[in-house]
Amino acid sequence: MKISVYHTPESTPDNDIPDCAIVIDVLRATTTINTALNNGVKSVKAFSDVDLLLAESSLLPRDSYLTLGERGGKKVDRCDFGNSPLDCTRETVANKQLFITTTNGTRALQRVKEASTLITGAIINYSAVVNYVKTAQPETVWLLGSGWEGGYSLEDTVCAGAIASGLVDLSDTESIGNDEVVASIALYHQWKDNLLGLFRLSSHGQRLLKLNLDDDLKYCSEPNIISTFGIQTEKGVLTLHTT
Ligand code: MLT
Repeated sequence: MKISVYHTPESTPDNDIPDCAIVIDVLRATTTINTALNNGVKSVKAFSDVDLLLAESSLLPRDSYLTLGERGGKKVDRCDFGNSPLDCTRETVANKQLFITTTNGTRALQRVKEASTLITGAIINYSAVVNYVKTAQPETVWLLGSGWEGGYSLEDTVCAGAIASGLVDLSDTESIGNDEVVASIALYHQWKDNLLGLFRLSSHGQRLLKLNLDDDLKYCSEPNIISTFGIQTEKGVLTLHTT
């Protein structure tokens, strides 16, 4: 296995696709997606465009789906919810289909939708992701951060480091796909005992704090509180993978 870390979809090599793509948007899209699926959502479909999301979801019976929309950390008015994992309680989401659009996470999902395996990683479930990849042994693995509008995000790269540290043997240079892998592991080891402190320092964490969303940061920083994750079962559609 060769593991590569990319901080943003924009930094991935053109015309290349990995065997296994792990999409990471810790604050908050993949934390929200993993939480919703773990709480009984039937499927999650991601859209980069709000109008397309609303047009497709409106074809379904109104009580069968929910729409989640975020731009700049704030709720999109025409959607049922913003992008807080705390809104995705079992009582609210069980047995529904979820349609989601966010500033960056949905773009990362679309960048790697052609991968034969696409799963959603976050701090809340990274051990389940590591165990799955260790068993599957894909040739090439991308740990893909979502970043913020093309820029680096601490929270996504520290999560990439958490996953990489479970997969990469630094004495085996064949497993290291790029320098970002080593850097992400170092970031993880520096902050693994204070992830909330790192999230509160991060630029997107600061953006969410200004929106009084510290409870979201707390939840998103809790390691391995669930042992499931989302897996793409048809292009653009994620369903629950239980380990
Ligand atoms: C993103 O897509 O950048 C994030 O999910 C934004 C957020 O939920 O605050």
